[in-house]
Formats: sequence, structure tokens, C-alpha cells
Amino acid sequence: MSKKNSYIADAKRYDTMKFRRTGKSGLLLPELSLGLWHNFGDDDNFKNSRNLLKCAFDNGITHFDLANNYGPPPGSAERNFGKILQKDFKSYRDELIISTKAGYGMWAGPYGDLGSKKFLVASLDQSLQRMGLDYVDIFYHHRPDYDTPLEETMGTLDLMVRQGKALYVGLSNYQPEEAKKAFQILKDLGTPCLIHQPRYSLFDRWIEDGLLDLLENTGVGAICFSPLAQGMLTNKYINGLPKDSRAVKDSPFLNSNQVLEMLPKIKALNEIAASRNQNLAQMAISWILKDQRITSVLIGASKTEQILDSVKAIENTTFSENELDTIDEILKTK
Ligand SMILES: NC(=O)c1ccc[n+]([C@@H]2O[C@H](COP(=O)([O-])OP(=O)(O)OC[C@H]3O[C@@H](n4cnc5c(N)ncnc54)[C@H](OP(=O)(O)O)[C@@H]3O)[C@@H](O)[C@H]2O)c1
Repeated sequence: MSKKNSYIADAKRYDTMKFRRTGKSGLLLPELSLGLWHNFGDDDNFKNSRNLLKCAFDNGITHFDLANNYGPPPGSAERNFGKILQKDFKSYRDELIISTKAGYGMWAGPYGDLGSKKFLVASLDQSLQRMGLDYVDIFYHHRPDYDTPLEETMGTLDLMVRQGKALYVGLSNYQPEEAKKAFQILKDLGTPCLIHQPRYSLFDRWIEDGLLDLLENTGVGAICFSPLAQGMLTNKYINGLPKDSRAVKDSPFLNSNQVLEMLPKIKALNEIAASRNQNLAQMAISWILKDQRITSVLIGASKTEQILDSVKAIENTTFSENELDTIDEILKTK
């Protein structure tokens, strides 16, 4: 089959992006990666989805993160991504790191959810089919399953790598204690965990309480999701609630009350960002990247302008003690 694309990527795409090593592995990831949780489903504008991926890649974002259930409906983000890959990215496959996951409810019955071998094997096969891929670069167990033995779930991740359906494996949403056990099982099987994908932002700092130390000590990378708290850590809500924003559109994960509650902190953080010659989105991303234990920050975007805006964060990832203290004070206020 011909490998010709209709899209030619920007020749300068590697000029400004910075790459970090993923834990102690051989894999480098861009400081910013793009997630397809929102804005790639069947309800979204296909042309816009296509432009988002092209814009990201043109700016050195080589990593696209998916999951079996992204959409809506579940599966549609992978299907739409597969179409875009086919149209635009065929000759760039070896420049891309594509990840997917399974662990949340995907189909009816006892074999369409959680962490059994039965579910994970079938789910990855379905994901590969939807995306038109022979393998994914990273396959994640999306969340812990306390009823399935960890040995079964980790054994399945190891199997996927041995079958050539995934190059690396990762875990998402695992707490430090269960992550530590899982890392040891994977290491013993000969398939070390590449990366952990937790939620982390100025508004949600749980990983500072043990997980980041564990990742550093075990040589596992970290890619943080929802770095902008789904858009709250930007200037978009400062003067009201835009109609096309995630908090106003029908998202079960973010609503206008949550935004209004955080508004005083958002406004105060916005002022610190301005004093650093950044906007709030850029500062929120820079603040995560100041920690070298973080491999990549996993952003979402509904518009290409947001990607162009957010990539500028990598230009300034150092903070003075005074800035960090002021940020901590703002976050502590009730
Ligand atoms: N492993 C897991 O359990 C899990 C869970 C959640 C997410 N994730 C991954 O993480 C990715 C990112 O999550 P997320 O979408 O919540 O991330 P996020 O970066 O915190 O939020 C993205 C949203 O913020 C707004 N935005 C982005 N850049 C902006 C900018 N420069 N200026 C103003 N607004 C901006 C947009 O909102 P509007 O849409 O309102 O324009 C965008 O849709 C997902 O796609 C997925 O791959 C993983």
C-alpha cells in the first residue's frame, strides 16, 4: 500500500520541542503530549480533530494518547484517529508514540471492564483494529482492579509485549502501594513498567505524597493528565463561562459550579503568571515541568490556538522560591 500522505509535516517540527527520557528507559517523550479524551469523538468536528493532530505534530508533539473508551461514543476517538492516521500520518508512523488503555467499562457483561486477561486481550485487539495499527507504542492498564490478582493483570501486559502488540506498558491511576507491587511483578517478568499516568496539576497534587518518589526510585516515567484541570487553569473562565467551553458543554467531568468555586484562586494565579510573562495555561504547564521526574505533560485541546499557546510553556520552566511560595499560599487559601 502507498505510504503517501496528503499532509506534509512542518520541516521545523523538531526545532523547538524538548524531549525527556521516560524513567530509565530508552524512550524519549516530548515535554508536551496530546490526549484524545475529548474533541475526537463522533460528535466532534472531524476536520477540527484532524487539524489538532497536524498542529500538534507540526510543533514537535510526537505523542498521542488514547484509550478504548474515548469518544463519545466509546471507541470513536480511536476510530477517528485511525482515519486521520491513514489520511495524514501514514509515512510518519515511526515518528509517533501512540498509546491506548483499557480498564474502564467498555462493553456489556463480565468481560468488558476492569483488569482480567480476558478483557484486556480483547480490548487491545479491538483498539488495534479501530486504529488500523499492528501495534501500539504504549499500552496502559487504565485503573487498578482490586478483585483481579495483580499477577494476572501484569502478566497480561507482559504477554502483549511478547506478542508484539505493544512495545511498552504503563499503569494509570494506581496509588503508590499498588504501583510498587505491580512494578516489581513486571520487572520480574522481564517487561519493566515504562510509565505511570496520574492526574496532576496545581489543583490536584496527590502525586507529591509518595508516587513521584516511587517513580524516581524505580526508574519509571511520569506523564501527567489534566494539567490544566480540564481548562480551569487557563484564563478562559476569568470573564465568564464561554458557551463552547468544557464546563458549559455537557461534560460529566467538569461543570460551571466547580469553575465558579475555584475562580478566586484562578484569578490570583493568573496574576503570578502575568508577572512571569506567561498566561495561566502556560504557567500551569511550566509548573509541572519544573520537576525533572515528570517526563511529559498530557494536554487536551479543542482548538489549534490552544496547542500553539500551550507549547510556549516549555520556554520557561524555572520558578523562583518566592513564586513557588506565593503559589502555595494561593492554593492553601479557603
Ligand atoms: N488516565 C486517565 O485516567 C486520564 C483521565 C483524563 C485524561 N487523561 C488524558 O489526559 C489528556 C488531557 O486531559 P484533559 O483534556 O483533562 O487536559 P487539560 O489540558 O487539563 O484540559 C484540556 C482543556 O483545557 C482547555 N485548554 C487547553 N489548552 C488551553 C489553552 N492554552 N488556553 C485555554 N484553554 C485551554 C480546553 O478546554 P475547552 O474544551 O473548554 O476549550 C481543553 O479541552 C486526555 O485527553 C487523556 O489523554 C487520562
